[in-house]
Amino acid sequence: MTAGPTREPFDPARFISNPSTGRMGFALAAEAIRRGGEVTLICGPTHLETPPGVHLVRVSTADEMFRAALNQAPGVDLVLKAAAVADYRPEVRSPGKIKKDVLLADRAILLRLLPTPDILEEIGRRKKPGQVLVGFAAETGDLEANALRKLLKKNLDLIVANRIGQEGEGFEADTNRALVIDRHGKKTDLPLMPKEAMAAAILDLAEPLLAAGAGQPGGRSTRRTAS
Ligand code: C5P
Repeated sequence: MTAGPTREPFDPARFISNPSTGRMGFALAAEAIRRGGEVTLICGPTHLETPPGVHLVRVSTADEMFRAALNQAPGVDLVLKAAAVADYRPEVRSPGKIKKDVLLADRAILLRLLPTPDILEEIGRRKKPGQVLVGFAAETGDLEANALRKLLKKNLDLIVANRIGQEGEGFEADTNRALVIDRHGKKTDLPLMPKEAMAAAILDLAEPLLAAGAGQPGGRSTRRTAS
């Protein structure tokens, strides 16, 4: 499992990030442990307490999360990618703090941003028989179309899509509301509920897929989870 934001620094004192708190991913990790899973949680910077029993791997940048996730992915049955990975990082990272008085005459600073690797897309490309991949999509519009596009592009089994910028949903909220779509196009609406209940609802949808995967030739044999 992955959770939280990533930070993309351009000097030792400044970075680009997003408001993700990691609550959804931590709730998923706790729920998977309750269900008997063996959980590795790769998380970006967050102040949340580690749920008992979870193997926590702390990272900061998207590149670090990429390496940690690709390292874990081959050995797990279920991947839940709740992290809000920064899509861009500054091209240049200054070793020293950029001083205000050396900035350009108009006091503007130009940052060229480069894309970060898409971790889930790479895991989807390397997906093993029987593995179940669950992605998340935080959208401001066209929720269903964007979610479907990501489901296909990243070779996912399930996508959990929620709106951002709405009261009680997405970043920094204790509650969430989501549209879940599976690889056959089946849709499930999850109404507004606490993130802990949402975690249980998501695992209720993922578990039958895991059970189906276990029966496939070359499918998994043990029960391990990474969210
Ligand atoms: O950012 P995007 O909407 O494409 O995110 C959809 C899914 O892909 C999420 O599950 C997110 O964790 C994952 N993702 C990723 N690496 C990225 C961007 C997104 O794994 N660089």
